[in-house]
Amino acid sequence: MMGKVAFSLLLALVLVNLGLSSERKCVLSGLWKNELGSNMSISAVNADGGFTGLYHTAVTATNKPIQVSPLKGSQKPTSQRKQPTFGFTVTWTFSDSTTVFVGQCFMDDKGKETLKTKWLLREEVRSPGADWKATRVGTNIFTRIK
Ligand code: BTN
Repeated sequence: MMGKVAFSLLLALVLVNLGLSSERKCVLSGLWKNELGSNMSISAVNADGGFTGLYHTAVTATNKPIQVSPLKGSQKPTSQRKQPTFGFTVTWTFSDSTTVFVGQCFMDDKGKETLKTKWLLREEVRSPGADWKATRVGTNIFTRIK
């Protein structure tokens, strides 16, 4: 009798574990688009949570022609978190500004992934007196294209 109870318990434990391990995780790697029409591609996330990518902004605060620019960031290692937080920096190749994004990768019940982010765009100004107007702040929501 005890043997049957122990076996059932073990079976239940294994099934619960299988269910948990098949829980879908939100993954940063891939191609994303935000509500402004900007696109970014993110490489595979390495074991330390580091990643690189390319950002193609649809808009600019400059009057220069837009160019695809590199990004570099990190997240909590994918294998550990279902909805990891992350941050990355875009070093614009056509502008003297830098943008940093922070956010979280969310996975809904249907398996759809969304990146909810906040960004700070720092413009280069001539003197500390202009510091007060040098930083813009905003929100971007990215959805997966691929
Ligand atoms: C610049 O204008 O100096 C560089 C391009 C900045 C584009 C910003 S970054 C935050 C926001 N989200 C986007 O996708 N593009 C704008």
